[in-house]
Amino acid sequence: MDKLNKKLLKLQQMELDAAVLYRELSDKLESERERAVFDALAAEEGHHASVLRHSTQLIKRPRHHLKRFAILYLQLFGRKALYKMIVKVEKMGANKYSALSLPEARQIADDEARHARIVLDLLN
Ligand SMILES: [Fe+2]
Ligand SMILES: [Fe+2]
Repeated sequence: MDKLNKKLLKLQQMELDAAVLYRELSDKLESERERAVFDALAAEEGHHASVLRHSTQLIKRPRHHLKRFAILYLQLFGRKALYKMIVKVEKMGANKYSALSLPEARQIADDEARHARIVLDLLN
């Protein structure tokens, strides 16, 4: 497997892990608005995973440790602390995709940057 494919496979895994995390987070939240936000983000991460699956031609299964970590973090430090972390991770994701010279990565980079802004908005 070449370097680019390895990167894409890692990103594909990350998208799946993020999708299960956001779905679980939505289940744990009280606010309808915030639940709707994370349901929508979960759907978009799932879409990103399928775009990447199309490139890698490999099927990945979601892992659950990121979700477990995030829920623990939520219980220990509260929503706002978790959202701040999510904003950072989404920005990092945007940068990773921006660095790829792949046509489909451009749209995903824009989506991740938008995710960061959406979650940042929940902090205000
Ligand atoms: Fe994504
Ligand atoms: Fe995202």
